[in-house]
Parts: sequence; C-alpha cells; structure tokens
Amino acid sequence: MSTLDEIKSRIDIVDLVSEAGVKLRHAGKNYTGFCPFHDNKRSPAFVVWPESGTWRCFGQCNEGGDIFKFVMKREGLDFKEAMQKLALRAGVEIKEYQRESPEQKEAYQNLRNLLEDAVIYYRTQLFANKDILTYLHEKRGLTDATIETFGLGFAPSGYDNALKYFTQRGFKEHELLEAGLLTEREDGRRYDKFRNRIMIPIRDEQGRMAGFGARIVDPNDIPKFLNSPETPVFSKGRLLYGLDRARKPIRAADQAVIVEGYLDVIALHQAGYENVVSPMGTALTEDQLRLLKKSTRRIVLALDPDAAGQKAVLRGLDAARSAMDREGELGFDARGLLKNEARLQADLRVAAMPDDLDPDEIVARDKEEWKRLIENAKPIVTHVMDSLAAGQDLNDAKTKTQIAAQVLPLIEDLPNPLERDTYRQALSRLLKVDERSLTATQVQGPVLRRKPRETVQRPKVEMTVAAVNPRLKIESYCLGVLFRKPELLYRLDRKLQEFGLSPLAVEDFEYTDHQLLFGVVRQAVQQDEKDHQNFMMGHLPEAVEILSRELLAQTEKMDTFDDKLLEELLFRFLDLRRAHAMLNVNQLRFLQEDEQQQGGTNIKLYQEQAIQFTRLLHNLDQAKRKIVKR
Ligand code: CTP
Ligand code: MN
Repeated sequence: MSTLDEIKSRIDIVDLVSEAGVKLRHAGKNYTGFCPFHDNKRSPAFVVWPESGTWRCFGQCNEGGDIFKFVMKREGLDFKEAMQKLALRAGVEIKEYQRESPEQKEAYQNLRNLLEDAVIYYRTQLFANKDILTYLHEKRGLTDATIETFGLGFAPSGYDNALKYFTQRGFKEHELLEAGLLTEREDGRRYDKFRNRIMIPIRDEQGRMAGFGARIVDPNDIPKFLNSPETPVFSKGRLLYGLDRARKPIRAADQAVIVEGYLDVIALHQAGYENVVSPMGTALTEDQLRLLKKSTRRIVLALDPDAAGQKAVLRGLDAARSAMDREGELGFDARGLLKNEARLQADLRVAAMPDDLDPDEIVARDKEEWKRLIENAKPIVTHVMDSLAAGQDLNDAKTKTQIAAQVLPLIEDLPNPLERDTYRQALSRLLKVDERSLTATQVQGPVLRRKPRETVQRPKVEMTVAAVNPRLKIESYCLGVLFRKPELLYRLDRKLQEFGLSPLAVEDFEYTDHQLLFGVVRQAVQQDEKDHQNFMMGHLPEAVEILSRELLAQTEKMDTFDDKLLEELLFRFLDLRRAHAMLNVNQLRFLQEDEQQQGGTNIKLYQEQAIQFTRLLHNLDQAKRKIVKR
C-alpha cells in the first residue's frame, strides 16, 4: 500500500470533518451537516461517506473529494502541505522520494565500493584459515559453491588488520568508520569492528552491498552476532537478508518464507529452497513486509517454537511483544502481525519448527520435511489457538476461559466478518463450548476484561475497511494503466464519445492524489511531444512522485496491451462513474426529503441534480450493455 493510501486508511474522515467544526448527523450509512465552505446555515447539503473516505457538498459549492481535498480547502494548503499535515496526524512517515544529488550518489557508490572490497578482503582471509573453512564445511554443511555464492568471509583476530589493509590501499580512516568497518573509542582511537568472526555480506534487494553480519567463532565471545552499524546504505529495519537472491524465486513460487538467521537462509538456499529471507535480529517491520509484498502477498513465517509457542503465549499476547522483542528473536506479536496482514492485504501464515530445531537443522535432517512444514503453515489465529491448546487440559473450565481470553481479541481485530465467524466457530469447536457463550464470557469474565479500544463509540470506520475500499483500488488500477500507457487515453475518450459520454476528467477520480496524477497524464497526451513518459516525469508534482513510482511498479509486467485491456479499462471507468452517480442520486433523495420536512429552499437544486445523475446512470448502463454485446 502506498504512503498515501496508508494515510487515508488511518484517518477517519468523520473525525477529521467533525474536528474542523462541522456537526455531523448520522443519516443511513452516511453523515450530513452544514457545508463549511459556503455559508448556507439552513440546509445541510454537506455529506460524508465514511466507507469511501470522501465528502461532497450538494449545495452551492457542488464540490467534493477526499481527506486531502478537505484539508486543502479548509486550510488553504496545497496538496503536499495537506499530505504532510495528515501524515503527521496518521503517524505515517513520509518517505520522500530522494532525488539523490550527484554528490550523494557518488558518496553512496564509494561506500558500496569499499564494502565490495571488504568482501574480497574477508574472503581471502577465510581461505587462508583452514579451521574456519572446516567449520563451515563440516559443522554447517556448506559447500564451496555456497560459500562463494554468499560471499562468506572471515575477519581475523586483532585490532588493526582491516585498518592497516585498507589505509595502505589509500582509504581514509573516516571512510572506513563511515562504512562501519572500524569503531571509534571514546579517546578517538579507531580499531577493527569485526574481529575473529565469520563475515556474512548483506546486500540490498538489488544486490548492492549494504553491510555485514558477523558471527562468533569462539563460543565465549559476545555478542553472538554483530551487525554493521546503521550507515547511509545499511538500515536493519529496511533490509531483508537474502532478498537479492530470493526475489526471483519468491515471484516464481508466489510465496516468501521468513526465517530467523543468516545461516538458515544460506542452508535453505543450498538445499534448493530459494524463496527464503531473514530479518537481522530485529522484529519484523512493516517496511520489510512491504518489500516482500512487491513480489508476493503470500508470506510464511518459519518461527522457532520458543518464540511462537507456549512460552510467549502463556505470558499473554499483549505482553509477548515486549518480552520477545529483545535482539536476536523474531518477536511474535500476533496482533501486530494481523494488523499488518490486513493493512497490507497480505496472506501471513506461521509454520512452527518442530523438535526445537532451526531451519538449517531441519533441512539437514530431511529436505522434504521443510516442504511439508511450509505447506502446512497455518493462519496466524489458528496458529495461536493451536499453540495455546497444545498440552492443555481442554476440559478444564479455567483453561477454556484463559484461551478464549487470548484468542477472542485477535478474532475481533479481524476486518472481515466472514473470517471472524469462521474463527469463532473454530474456537468454539476447539474449546467445546457454545459459540454464544464465547462472546458472553468475554464480556463477563473478570480475566477477560480488555483494555478499552481507542475508538469504539461510533460504528468505527476500521482503518482496514478504508484500506480495502474497492473504489480506491479500482481508481489506482485504472490510473496505473493510464500512467504506463498514456496513449490509451485517446482511445478511451473516443469510445466514451461514441456512447455520448464525456471524456475522462479529473472528476472521474475521487482521490486528490489520483486527480493530480491524472492531470499530468492528460497534459502529456495533449503535448506534441511523442515521448509521453518523458513529459510526465518532467511535470510530475513532487507530492505524487512516490505514487507514480508505485503505479509503475504495479504495472511493471504489463508490457503489451490489447483491445481486451482497453475494454476492461473502459468498463471500470464506467463502473466508477456509475457508483459515483448512484451514491449521489441516493444522497440527493435524502436531502430532498430533509429539505421538504424543514421547508428549505434547496429542493429545486437537489431535484435538478438528481435528474442529471439519473440521466447519467441511464446512459452509463446503456454503454455497458453495448460493450457486453460486442
Ligand atoms: N542475531 C543478531 N544478534 C544477536 C543474535 C542473533 O542479530 N546477538 C540475529 C542474526 O541475524 C541471527 C539470527 O538473529 O542469524 C538468529 O540467531 P540465532 O538463532 O542465535 O543464530 P543462528 O542464525 O541460528 O546461528 P547458529 O545456527 O550459528 O547458531
Ligand atoms: Mn541456527
């Protein structure tokens, strides 16, 4: 999901509008109030649709839009300012599209070059050190080919091996420090950061050197793993170990597996399971999931049974996070994971590792076993239920209550009512209790009292509901295609004209960022210049640069288009128009009734608008029928 979608999904438009001083009244699925943009205080012509996150004034303004448009208009901001403001409110970090300056680019490149040199240096050291090689071969079962492929190396003991080697080759100490190869003491003395450790190069998803993970050789050394410090090219929370090699296999398998451990990734790749990556000693971040989601939405977490299982769960799920979040353990935070799953529309599953084994030990024991484990990965809620129930006496009433207390909140968090029902049923089967009593105990039982949810008073626009708002998805699909193939716009317009409909316009998009981007597409095709892409890139408002990149990534594979695609696109646009018209007709009916009761003056205005929209509906339906017939 894009940053903007994320902001949209986290901000409830009803809250936003109410806070701006508009008194909203519940009317069906919507809210109405007096328009804050024109001063007719007699007629509540302002409507908010929480589901789509949009608003509209049917009165004098005759204008509408999303949260961004609302803030822009209300506070006189431009899109970028509105976005920044709302991002802050939503707690979403805006990742600026960094136009790396040439100097910066060069600096990064130098850093990466130095790290590449370091890979070679450590490798040479490894091949000069028979003991370490033997350890890798015999204890870890790695072949020479694997050692080569993953660029493994060895940092010798001693405080100045790398320091001497690299300074003699002309590198400056401050460069080595910046690359994370040296550490500085308080008194300013600098020395090798990595000593007597197996070196594991970490690359970004494009294969560019980013940093190192370093494992002890002497079991008495601490810490067991030492990673590069955060540098301009190394950020633990944003990288996944192995992704450069796993990207293609992940796409091919349409599945990514997350393990916890460099050596597990390496061993699994060697065993032929190449869709495997690992975080680097920190809890899984949303950034990392997002990185994976570019290649697949099906993600399996291979969790070691300690982290995922009994111990953590018995401490209580809420406590699990802080308890497990220490370095080196993939925190299993079921609630957080479910939230991410919904927000990213991913399919997250859990495969618990048996017999206290690490993934590398499992494939060493039996290659096929790994496949079975992954195939049998369970949805998070099922996993939690099963691990809570394992080894417990399910006939004991107290146990039942405890399990229900931990699982029910998770189920309640699920955005999809169908899923909620399914899991509630599963839980009632597991505990052999009536489904109704499950909800009842949850309310009454003293152990079961939950912290009040932050927003519970109003029928909440769950962020996840807004996130899967179909209009948003369809708009972004259509826009994505147009952005990649601007020339389609001509043909779409021509077709629309054939049906007696108006050409595509910014108003066909309800979301401000989409409107902005569509504006650029429109401009591009109106230019003489043949190279539309080039024009668009040169005229992109800064605030939608990220969106544009996301749309391009989304349509990456779409290099051919045919009449079928055109038709599909046309159909979608007709649907969007139709949904919009329908919403307005219904709303106008409400408004008319209201107005009638209160003897207002706007009846005529509403009637005229309703007639127009009804006519439009009729035309749209005709057009759709014609397309189907052809
Ligand atoms: N890790 C870390 N810092 C630590 C411990 C662990 O960054 N102090 C990370 C590393 O990415 C490591 C992973 O957590 O690969 C898993 O740690 P652990 O299970 O202890 O090691 P393994 O990778 O299984 O290594 P080995 O099999 O060699 O024990
Ligand atoms: Mn291990």
